Amino acid sequence: MLIKTATFVKSSVNLSQCPSPQLPEYAFIGRSNVGKSSLINMLCNHSKLAKVSSTPGKTREINHFLINNNWYLVDLPGYGYARVSRSARQKWGDFIEEYLKGRENLQYLFVLIDSRLEPQPIDIEFVNHLGVLSIPFVIVFTKIDKQNTAQTQQNKELFEKALYKTWEELPSMFLTSAEKKTGKDDLLKFIGGSNQEYRIQKKTDLK
Ligand code: GTP
Ligand code: MG
Repeated sequence: MLIKTATFVKSSVNLSQCPSPQLPEYAFIGRSNVGKSSLINMLCNHSKLAKVSSTPGKTREINHFLINNNWYLVDLPGYGYARVSRSARQKWGDFIEEYLKGRENLQYLFVLIDSRLEPQPIDIEFVNHLGVLSIPFVIVFTKIDKQNTAQTQQNKELFEKALYKTWEELPSMFLTSAEKKTGKDDLLKFIGGSNQEYRIQKKTDLK
């Protein structure tokens, strides 16, 4: 699939503000600074679509981008940002939980994991929580340009091992670099396939 057009639609601070759920949607989530906004820009070939910053906590709202007039990419705020207060963290949790539970057109959540790190408890807990909520998700390892392939592979394997403690089957996994544009075709192919399934399902529902 090719992205021909990508436009910012709106920023929302709760579910009711989000655009009407008529199109398939894919949201990017993960720890602050993991590279969510950068990956969205990389997929869209647009360096300034989503706001990127080296300071964690840049994205604060639910940002919808309309792609090819046909589906949405969503940039979410990061979790685990140490410098925010407990009450702010609680608010983040409630607001994201409301989105995850209530967003009926969410096809997959893309959970971004920093490929340089060994499995982090906060990421494993988050993924396990998605199981409780029955949210379909995939894992996207980011910033693979920052170290050699063997180190990336090792961290991926450790992450898989950690997931096998609670999961019988593992989700799809992607290795990416926004810097080098690695993983772009694989991610877009995955989304293209899911969009097709969405349309087939819609047609069946109408019958
Ligand atoms: P929040 O909105 O704060 O939660 O962060 P985010 O997850 O959206 O991260 P963002 O895309 O803003 O990127 C954080 C920092 O990592 C920026 O300085 C980016 O330039 C850098 N970065 C993101 N992706 C990559 C990558 O693939 N490779 C390298 N080398 N740097 C990256
Ligand atoms: Mg961001």
